[in-house]
Amino acid sequence: MSPLLAAAFALFMYLLVRLLNITHPAASPLIYAKDRSSQFVQSVLDMCPILHQPYHPPFLWGKNGHVQTIVYARMGRLNIQVPDGVRHSKIMPDGANLTFDLYEPFRPHPTGESHCIIFCPGIGNNSESPYIQSLVHHSQQLGYVAVVLNHLGSLKKLRLTSPRLFTYGGTEELAAVRAEVERIHPGCHLILVGCSMGANIVLKYLGEDQSHQRGILAAVSVNQGYDVNKALPILKSWRDMGRFYVYVMTENQKQIIQAHQEQLLSSENKEKHDIDEQKIWQATSLDELDDALSVRLFGYTSVEEYYREMSCYRHIPNIKIPLLILNAEDDPVVPKELLVYPLKAAETQPYTIFVLTKHGGHLGFYERGFFKPSNHTWMDRLIMEYSEAITNLYSDGKLPQPFKDLGVSVSPDSKLKVGDVASWKDATISKMNNNIAPAGEDQDKETRTSKEMGDSRNNHILSGMSSNLTDEDLRAHSEGLFGSGDSLTGSGLVLEALKKSTNTAQL
Ligand SMILES: *[C@@H]1O[C@H](CO)[C@@H](O)[C@H](O)[C@H]1NC(C)=O
Ligand SMILES: *[C@@H]1O[C@H](CO)[C@@H](O)[C@H](O)[C@H]1NC(C)=O
Ligand SMILES: *[C@@H]1O[C@H](CO)[C@@H](O)[C@H](O)[C@H]1NC(C)=O
Ligand SMILES: *[C@@H]1O[C@H](CO)[C@@H](O)[C@H](O)[C@H]1NC(C)=O
Ligand SMILES: *[C@@H]1O[C@H](CO)[C@@H](O)[C@H](O)[C@H]1NC(C)=O
Repeated sequence: MSPLLAAAFALFMYLLVRLLNITHPAASPLIYAKDRSSQFVQSVLDMCPILHQPYHPPFLWGKNGHVQTIVYARMGRLNIQVPDGVRHSKIMPDGANLTFDLYEPFRPHPTGESHCIIFCPGIGNNSESPYIQSLVHHSQQLGYVAVVLNHLGSLKKLRLTSPRLFTYGGTEELAAVRAEVERIHPGCHLILVGCSMGANIVLKYLGEDQSHQRGILAAVSVNQGYDVNKALPILKSWRDMGRFYVYVMTENQKQIIQAHQEQLLSSENKEKHDIDEQKIWQATSLDELDDALSVRLFGYTSVEEYYREMSCYRHIPNIKIPLLILNAEDDPVVPKELLVYPLKAAETQPYTIFVLTKHGGHLGFYERGFFKPSNHTWMDRLIMEYSEAITNLYSDGKLPQPFKDLGVSVSPDSKLKVGDVASWKDATISKMNNNIAPAGEDQDKETRTSKEMGDSRNNHILSGMSSNLTDEDLRAHSEGLFGSGDSLTGSGLVLEALKKSTNTAQL
């Protein structure tokens, strides 16, 4: 081999190792909670060993967020068992044919009660999406009824019956699915799980009208972006390839529109809403596309107004029930700037836990192996461990239920009201017996140490944060987290190292 070739090869290998972040150590997730010593947070942490073990992405490629995301988008999940469910449908007031799939559990849940997880998938996805099928299968194995909302228009073979597709933040469909599930399975306790855009819908649904939270044990939000108006300009700036992802999402969305153009782009509909079809096919970003179609269809005055109405960030502070929020630092679709929202939620809401992993990409979270990952993703394991923690706490009468006997307040802008939930069990919050060990000094080897993380990025739980953190504080805080600032202690944050690591989690 000529020296030049050898040098070129060495350079190539170096870049590859750099690009794939191969040398980065596996790290435990960062966990944020308002009061780490509260009984609820302690119990959840104890019952979710996955939260204090390092997350090991596939050695060769798993530490690159782009590769994780592309593997998710192109290959889905490994060795999934396609679950066998029953499709239900319901005609919405505007004539839309809403469908959802319902899957019975393989065995009764060990608590002896009936629990149901409703999954709200990501943009354009449905019960046929592999990551959803994988979650459904795990739920069935553990004894949960699983339900998947199929976003309107996402099942290409199913004809639309009204001239509209799903929207980023429309909650009527989720409310209707919930009501149907409560009708089919009266007495079933609900957990809502949203992925990406579906997580935006779940949090918006819960927060826009607090009565929606009654009868829901907990919610999980995975890899969502909280505020479209804020996220889109950052993504479109090409930083970290964002523009590429926007383009791909736009093309996917155009394909869905194309599949239903008979309904959506009938000459009657185009005339009525002043829709210029050319602009739809020419769009190369979501805002261009939405400006050409959805904004007109739904009667908004601008794309900014549409996005503002669709985004969940304004409603998150109203969520009082237990909430688990998961994001990955290397998610190429969710810019870090957006993480101020989950940080703020974890800072102010006592039952919100925000989990931030270093790796995982967008809905990737593949784990283990050198090249071929294991059958279970980290995200599936976390969602299942958390659901188990919630249902066990509930059955022990220890789950916080802020809306147990509250006179329900209905916010004026809510369009859809969900009937009272007969199934709500009168469990009480057990007394705070703080017999769970406080955070210790001896930081386990497995947790992310300060050195690995850089100065301020310890494996920590934020606790004792001043309860009136402003947006400015949070901005400073997240800058500290993500590089430019130096420390988190400026806003009076006390960081505690997570203690003991427990046995390997089993699904
Ligand atoms: C490699 O890891 C660093 C630190 O976690 C991260 O900022 C960067 O985006 C990663 N690179 C890739 C290509 O994922
Ligand atoms: C789900 O969404 C991903 C990402 O947008 C996309 O690649 C995939 O095709 C979608 N799956 C289905 C079944 O529509
Ligand atoms: C993964 O799934 C495949 C196919 O179902 C199975 O043959 C294999 O044993 C599984 N691997 C593990 C580690 O469970
Ligand atoms: C609605 O969808 C269901 C499920 O695919 C289908 O059986 C039904 O015929 C549809 N209803 C209408 C009015 O299209
Ligand atoms: C937070 O604000 C409230 C009302 O503005 C005030 O009563 C309270 O003392 C403040 N708490 C702290 C810790 O500053």
